[in-house]
Amino acid sequence: MYAARSLGLGSTPMIGFDADAVHHEFGLGEEEVPVMLLSVGVERQGNWAQKPRRPVADVLDLV
Ligand SMILES: Cc1cc2nc3c(=O)[nH]c(=O)nc-3n(C[C@H](O)[C@H](O)[C@H](O)COP(=O)(O)O)c2cc1C
Repeated sequence: MYAARSLGLGSTPMIGFDADAVHHEFGLGEEEVPVMLLSVGVERQGNWAQKPRRPVADVLDLV
């Protein structure tokens, strides 16, 4: 994702996908399990801005 960003591209992770279909389409082996997809692409005109993020301290406690 950082590499995509450094090239001026946008990228987001996705875990909500049909793992069996991805496995089939990409001809993965029996011991290979797709766990995440990364979308990578050129930002379209009119794309909305990145959603706001809460400060890390609001959502994470380091113990
Ligand atoms: C680990 C992870 C998995 C994600 N999986 C999905 C997904 O399956 N489907 C989806 O629409 N967004 C998913 N998201 C959210 C998108 O990647 C992205 O954060 C969202 O589109 C909002 O982007 P923005 O906050 O930059 O505007 C996931 C985010 C993370 C961190």
